[in-house]
Amino acid sequence: MRPSGRALRSLTAKASASASVFRAVDSAPPLEIFSVVAGFARDTHPSKVDLGIGAYRTNEGQPWVMPWVQRIEQLMGQDKTRNHEYLTFLGCDTFSQAATALLLGPESDVVRQGKAFGIQSLGGTGCVRIGSEFLSRVLNYNTAYIPAQTWDNHHRVMSRSGFTHLKEYRYWHPLNKALDFEGLTEDLSSAPKYSVVVLHPCAHNPTGCDPTQEQWDRIADIIQERKLFPFFDTAYQGLASGDVDQDAWAVRHFVKRELELFCAQSFSKSCGLYGERIGNLTVVLHDPDQIEKMRSQFRIIVRALYCSPPRHGAQIVSTMLQDPNMQEEWRACLREMAGRIRDMRHSLRQKLEGMKTPGTWEHITKQVGMFSFTGLTEHQVQYMKEKHHIYMLSSGRANMCGLNNKNLDYVASAIHDTVTQIK
Ligand SMILES: Cc1ncc(COP(=O)(O)O)c(C=O)c1O
Repeated sequence: MRPSGRALRSLTAKASASASVFRAVDSAPPLEIFSVVAGFARDTHPSKVDLGIGAYRTNEGQPWVMPWVQRIEQLMGQDKTRNHEYLTFLGCDTFSQAATALLLGPESDVVRQGKAFGIQSLGGTGCVRIGSEFLSRVLNYNTAYIPAQTWDNHHRVMSRSGFTHLKEYRYWHPLNKALDFEGLTEDLSSAPKYSVVVLHPCAHNPTGCDPTQEQWDRIADIIQERKLFPFFDTAYQGLASGDVDQDAWAVRHFVKRELELFCAQSFSKSCGLYGERIGNLTVVLHDPDQIEKMRSQFRIIVRALYCSPPRHGAQIVSTMLQDPNMQEEWRACLREMAGRIRDMRHSLRQKLEGMKTPGTWEHITKQVGMFSFTGLTEHQVQYMKEKHHIYMLSSGRANMCGLNNKNLDYVASAIHDTVTQIK
């Protein structure tokens, strides 16, 4: 018997009630870092090595909660006056002022003259996001130049912030395994006026290659001549040289040359506070009278994105930055981390050269910061994973902090085998 019209309507209603509105959703393109981390976690091989993740690891292969962080957290736990009220949209001012001074230096003229301010945001990522939103939505910039090799999120964050023209400037010279300075200056010199240029002030991710001071000066010339806007992104201050002041040289030099700029400053890696989402966007400008107007625009941007940033990390970092003894303790931790990374670089190079591994390996010690752009091809990276259970990004980027005294020989032998077997 055929169902009546009423029964048919009820059946159709039931069918559409059970059909999900999400049935048309397709998988997004994979995020490589996510696949590398997941692949490593699934791997049960006892000798597996993680050189993929962008986080510091101790010589025991563990995350490091620095002793000063633990002490501050204990004090915070005992403080009965503490509460969990919202921070205001632009975050904790004491944190932002201390972070801005850390970036620009204790003697900074622009800080003294009130020509700089900071905004607390969600890690380095949040700072890049709110800075990009400001440039695109408030100042109508639509073109940004990003180094051809860069943190993979720059393209995503900036295009979602409204940049419609994202261009790359040359950065890495694959044959020299070094900075392609000629390519960089050629590309920036032909950038249209009023473009934004994204710059890594130290420990460039992923290549580990930074311009020299003379080269930074030349970059500043081009930026000035072509009226480009410098947007620095510093996620590794202190982890390149071990010294926060030295690692801020490029930004301070641009300020000395009277350039206005943004700088996204992350405390994830430098303080080991990855999950606390703590960063500061520093703004340097010529006219202090514009600050309140700019802050009001940032408030709208932040309010629409996440309302206000979290308290915990801001309290930890600002407590440390305001206490000279604790700040010195933090600086010593940075020296230790940068020193361990340098040691691992030297040992790896020494072992590869000792085994006469095909190729040249001095780039490993010339590069600085967490990452080495090893020069391994995508095919070789795949082989390293499948044969040796060593994980890194397909670009050949390896996190030097994933190396330690226990796995160094294993990794060096694996690289030797890989470059011998896979051309
Ligand atoms: C250049 C660069 N910018 C920003 C970030 C993101 O920093 P955060 O984890 O603090 O958001 C990273 C992290 O890998 C980075 O390398």
